[in-house]
Order: sequence, then structure tokens, then C-alpha cells
Amino acid sequence: MKLLYCSLAAVLVLPLALAGAAADFDFFFHVQQVTVDPIIVTLYPPVACIITQRVRWLVASVQWPGSYCDTRADRCCYPGNQKPAADFTIHGLWPNYADCRRGLLTPDAATRCWPDYCNATDPLNTSLIKDLESDLLRNWGTLSCRNRNATAFWSHQWRRHGTCSGMDQHAYFRAALDFKARFNLTRILADAGVAPSRNETYLLSSIEDAVTKATGSAPSVECNRNGRDEMELYQVFQCVGRDGRSPVHCPRRLESRCTDKVKFPAF
Ligand SMILES: *[C@@H]1O[C@H](CO)[C@@H](O)[C@H](O)[C@H]1NC(C)=O
Ligand SMILES: *[C@@H]1O[C@H](CO)[C@@H](O)[C@H](O)[C@H]1NC(C)=O
Ligand SMILES: *[C@@H]1O[C@H](CO)[C@@H](O)[C@H](O)[C@H]1NC(C)=O
Ligand SMILES: *[C@@H]1O[C@H](CO)[C@@H](O)[C@H](O)[C@H]1NC(C)=O
Ligand SMILES: *[C@@H]1O[C@H](CO)[C@@H](O)[C@H](O)[C@H]1NC(C)=O
Repeated sequence: MKLLYCSLAAVLVLPLALAGAAADFDFFFHVQQVTVDPIIVTLYPPVACIITQRVRWLVASVQWPGSYCDTRADRCCYPGNQKPAADFTIHGLWPNYADCRRGLLTPDAATRCWPDYCNATDPLNTSLIKDLESDLLRNWGTLSCRNRNATAFWSHQWRRHGTCSGMDQHAYFRAALDFKARFNLTRILADAGVAPSRNETYLLSSIEDAVTKATGSAPSVECNRNGRDEMELYQVFQCVGRDGRSPVHCPRRLESRCTDKVKFPAF
């Protein structure tokens, strides 16, 4: 099955590669740091089928605690029974492939937009990020009742996404914290007149515009539906370069589910 798929992929890719379209199509892949020209890849389908698509950008995702607790009240528990600050918290920093619709060469990349669980022998070792712990507890906490210890959350994010980032454990968590600190979305929105409120409704476009203006890159916003069937701003996704530092233009839109007008509930 895999051989059939790969041969088919090679036949499809060959004309494009020969037409010199490679540079425009992002058909660059790598085997252990070695960038392989798409023509070579095309001529060796078996090789093409064992190589992986390259991570091109990361998604920095944060979530709004007010919306998490509003729509998942039964699943909202304050850590140590102390209500956290009314501030966005980090969900994760997620490596993404260049473009999943163009991942023709491997069955895996054809259906996936991102890699995950890249290194099973590199579990989170909290002593490597000890110096970041208080910063992490403040900015990368969890309100999940099932997962009350934030260490389990960080461990999951590291194993699933961090191991694919090319960064070591300390650099990965540091990058996520730095990015969030550099672009304080709570403040960016407040400065644009989008303040958490029980009763106000905001235009989704005013939220997107505020973030675009402050960071130079358009975000994707994901919404939740609360118990009154209203849309609430839940998560904000920003595209970041592979260094985990600079905002980049998003190669594709991410999940949204928002309507034109959304709530930004007080927390
Ligand atoms: C996986 O992690 C281990 C332990 O940190 C490391 O020695 C190894 O090189 C990593 N493997 C890959 C493929 O990155
Ligand atoms: C975790 O990291 C510390 C500090 O580098 C090291 O001494 C310890 O052996 C590591 N623990 C595991 C389980 O790898
Ligand atoms: C989570 O639990 C582990 C082991 O039970 C403990 O060592 C760690 O300090 C806890 N982490 C936090 C952030 O409470
Ligand atoms: C972000 O800005 C808000 C509003 O000004 C502030 O309350 C919050 O402490 C800031 N967050 C961080 C991590 O500095
Ligand atoms: C919404 O609530 C705030 C206080 O939380 C109040 O100041 C404001 O007047 C209210 N706006 C409307 C339209 O009811």
C-alpha cells in the first residue's frame, strides 16, 4: 500500500519538479538535516517515502481562562484553590509543516499538518526547567480538574510538540514564555478597547486587527460556545518562526469556529 502510494506520489511530483516549479512549491524535504532536492527525491521514490516533511513554523497558542471556565464549568478547577490572574495562559508551542495539502510524498505528511511525538526517549525532566517553574506556573498553568498538576500538562506538551521543535527542553519552554511576555495579548486587546466583560460583544475583526497591528502578523482565533449559546473568544493562535521568537505571516488559517461577533467574558 505504502509502495503504491509512494510510486503514485512520485509520478505526480515528477512533472512539477522537472518544470522547475520546485522553488515555488515548497517541495523541500530533509533527511537528518540534509536538504534534498525535489528532483532527487522524485527519482528515488523509496527514499522519498522514508523522509519527513520539514517543520517550517510554530503556532504559539494561548487561551482565555474566562472562556475555559464559562464553557467547561464542570472541568474548571483553580490550582491550589487560588483563582489565577485574568490573563491569557499558554496552551502550547506547536511545530507545523510548511503546508499539509502539499505533503505528497509520505502517507503521514499527506494527511497531517504537523508532526508529533518525535522522540519517545526524551521525556520531560523538570530539573532541566527548574529555574522557569514560577514563570511557568503563572503563565502556563492549567484549569483542568482532571489534570490538576501543571507538570503533567507541560510534560504532555513537551512530549507531543516540544520534541518536534528542534529545541531542547529549556529552550522550548523559554521560547514560549518569552513570546507570550513580548506580546501581552491581554494588554494588546485592552489597548484596543477589547476588555473582558460580562455584557459586551466585540467584533471578531477588531480582535484580529488589534493583534495584527501589535505583532505584524494576523492571528487565528478559536471560539467556544457558552451555556447561553454565545460565541466566546477561547484561544488565539499566532504564527512564529522556527526560532520560536519572531512572528511570521501564517502560511494557512487555523481552526476558527467564530462568528463575526464574540464575547470576551470576564474572569
Ligand atoms: C532523543 O532524545 C535523546 C535524549 O535527549 C537524544 O539523545 C536523541 O538524540 C534524541 N533523538 C533524536 C532523533 O533527536
Ligand atoms: C534530569 O536532569 C538532571 C540534570 O541534568 C540529571 O542529573 C538527571 O539525571 C535527569 N533525570 C533523568 C531521569 O534523566
Ligand atoms: C506535580 O507532581 C509531582 C509529583 O507528584 C511533583 O514533584 C511536582 O512538584 C508537582 N508539580 C507542581 C507544579 O505542583
Ligand atoms: C499583561 O497585561 C495585563 C494588563 O495590562 C496585566 O494585568 C498582566 O499582568 C500582563 N501579563 C504579564 C505576564 O505581564
Ligand atoms: C456592561 O457592564 C459594565 C460593568 O461590568 C458596565 O459598566 C457597562 O455599562 C455595561 N454595558 C452595557 C451595555 O450594559
